[in-house]
Amino acid sequence: MKHALQEVISQRSLEERIAQLAGQISRDYADGDLVLVAVLSGAFVFAADLCRSLSIDCTIDFVRVSSYGSNTSSSGAIRLVQAPSLDLAGRDVLVVEDIVDTGMTLQWLINYFHEQSAASVRLCVLIDKKERRQVPLEADYAGFTLDHGFLVGYGLDFAERYRNLPSIYTLQDAAS
Ligand code: PRP
Repeated sequence: MKHALQEVISQRSLEERIAQLAGQISRDYADGDLVLVAVLSGAFVFAADLCRSLSIDCTIDFVRVSSYGSNTSSSGAIRLVQAPSLDLAGRDVLVVEDIVDTGMTLQWLINYFHEQSAASVRLCVLIDKKERRQVPLEADYAGFTLDHGFLVGYGLDFAERYRNLPSIYTLQDAAS
C-alpha cells in the first residue's frame, strides 16, 4: 500500500535544530564523561547526526526495548531486548530517543540506567509528543514539540517502512 505523506519537519530544519542541540550538549558536558545511549531502532538516524555535530568527545552505545500490547502506543510492560555493551557505572548517560509519546519507555529506561549506577541520566529526544503522555516526563533536550499525527521518516517507521526518509512526515491515512 502506498501512503500519502505530508512533510512536517524538513531536512534543513532537522539539521539546524540538531546543530543547536549538539551545541548545547557540548557545552553542558564539556567536563563530563558523556555516553550517548541510542534506543533502537528509531533513534539510529538522530543519534548518528547528533554525535557527529558534537564538539566534545563521547562514546556511543545502544539499547533495544520492547513493550507488549498495542502496536500504536506503549503498554507499559517493557523489557530489555538488548542491553548496553558498555559499563555505565559512574558515566554521564544521555539517552537519545527519536520520540517520546506516553513516556513509558523513557521512564523505564531512566530507572534502568540509574540501576546501572550511572553518574547522571538525562534525556535527549528529537520529538516531544505530549498529547498521550502518561507519566510526568520532561526531556532535558527536545528538538521539536508536536501535538498529533502519525509521524514517519528520519528513523520513525510505519510497520518498519519509511525510516530512511530524510525529512519527517505525517502519514495521512493512518490512525494517530
Ligand atoms: C517508539 C520510540 C520510543 C517509544 C516511545 O519506539 O522510539 O522508543 O516508541 O513511546 P512511549 O513514549 O509511548 O513509550 P517503537 O516501539 O515504535 O520502536 P522503534 O524505535 O523500533 O520504531
